[in-house]
Formats: sequence, C-alpha cells, structure tokens
Amino acid sequence: MPVQILAVSDVIDQRIHSSSLAERMPDVDLAVSCGDLPGRYLEFIVDAINRPLYYVLGNHAEEIQRDRDGRPRGPQGCIDLGGRVMRDVRTGLILAGLPGSPKYNDSEPEQYSELEMSYKIARMTPRLLWNQRRYGRALDVLITHSPPLGLGDREDEAHRGFRAIRTFLDRFKPAYHLHGHVHLYDRSKSPVLCYGETTIVNVYPYQALEIDVPVVERDRVAPTAPSRSALTGGSETNTTPGGSFSPLRVEGGGRYSGPLVAFESTTEIVNERGRAIVQERVTAGSARR
Ligand SMILES: [Fe+2]
Repeated sequence: MPVQILAVSDVIDQRIHSSSLAERMPDVDLAVSCGDLPGRYLEFIVDAINRPLYYVLGNHAEEIQRDRDGRPRGPQGCIDLGGRVMRDVRTGLILAGLPGSPKYNDSEPEQYSELEMSYKIARMTPRLLWNQRRYGRALDVLITHSPPLGLGDREDEAHRGFRAIRTFLDRFKPAYHLHGHVHLYDRSKSPVLCYGETTIVNVYPYQALEIDVPVVERDRVAPTAPSRSALTGGSETNTTPGGSFSPLRVEGGGRYSGPLVAFESTTEIVNERGRAIVQERVTAGSARR
C-alpha cells in the first residue's frame, strides 16, 4: 500500500511554505522533518496538510520554541521522533528517529559522541526487535539529522556521518533512511544513495516520496487514527483510545479455532510541552467455543 510522505529539512522552502501547499499535495499521508527547521515552519506544515508530522531535532535545535513563560516547548501538533520507534497508526508505516550531529563545538545543543548515539540506538533496540517479530520488519523509515559515516557525509568535523547510524542500517535494514544536515547546493548531484537494502535520501530542502508499506500488516490490524484534537492539544494530556477486533481464523460451520480475536489499542498522549507520544498495546485472546 503506497504511503505519500512529505519530507523537509534544514531550510524553509517557499514552495512548501505556501498557502497552496494543501492543493498541490492533497494526498500526503504524513510529513517528516530531518531537523534544523524553525518550529513555526513545522506547525505551518502540519496545519496545512492536516496529517501527522514526525520530527527529529537538528544540531541547532531550532524546533524548540519558548512559551509565554519562557519555558522551552516543541512545535505544537508535531511528534518528536528523536530516540523513539513509532508506528503511524493510519498508514502502518514504522518510523524511528535519531537527532543531532557529531560533537564539534560547545555552543550547539544537539551534539552527540558515537557512544552517546550508540546508547540511543541500544534503547530503541527492544522495540525494533519486537517489530521484527510482530510485523516481519524492524522499521520502514529511519529519520535522522546526520547521515551515516561515509554515505553522503562530508569530511569536516560538523558534517561527518555517524558510524553508529551506519551500523543501524546494517543491522535493521530499513527500506529508507532520510537525513538532512548536509546542504546539497549542487543540484546536479543526486540526493539518493543505495546502501544494501536501504535507499538513503538527503532531504534538503524537501522531498516528496512514495513508500510501500507491506500489506501483511494491514491484514493483521485495523487501527484507528489518532484524533486531530489529540495531535494539536498543547496544554493538557489528551488520550484517544482506538482499536478494533478482527477474527484471525474461521473454520467451516462457524467454529472458531486458535486465537479468536486480535485486539490492538493505540493511545496518543500530548504532554504540556506539546510533545506527543504514541503507545501501543496488543492483546491476543485464545478463547474457543
Ligand atoms: Fe545541521
């Protein structure tokens, strides 16, 4: 099943920051940001397309804004994917995200050593392995700010890639890896690289992509999309339970065998900082007649 993705990174592009965006891209299923973009730009996109937007912070963390009391907050209605693995409930697309760049000075907020990036990946690994078992793949799309080492990166300290991200690709083999950080001013150079089973795309300044989600997943679950109010709520916790019962196997004569039903519930929570967290709980029953 094709999923239409609008990916943005690093600079505001007037073709996207336009009142005609919804008209020109009416079929976008979700948006992603690979970092270093102002929060107001991400909020504009999520309002225009009326679909979820998943983001990771760039090294400059321009996404973080201040509320009236001076407290930091992420872009409203957008989902922080940094260090997380999430499944988009409407499309079934599985995403994982890693923020920041390699350490190169003391002034930018989102910089990590190889060890710190490896630790982030280690914390995501249980969920990736669970996805492998449940959906037959760890993830579909990896979203990062920085590229992998030696794959679309540069030699200077700030723009070299992460070895840990390259190891991630070797181990979990996402169909796509989208990143930014490296500005491609020479448009004669392709932003696309192939590495093993992964297509790596430098998103700068934006890319429109169509990605196939394996149909087997849609056969197994019938999720309910999070409500718009849950995505856009900013000051209080909203919880939107969704779910469905679907028979797994039916024998002749109306007898059920094996697990009778599969149940999946999905909860969307937005905290006081506008940070949304998707949680999933799956319970399979085994009642028999
Ligand atoms: Fe950057």
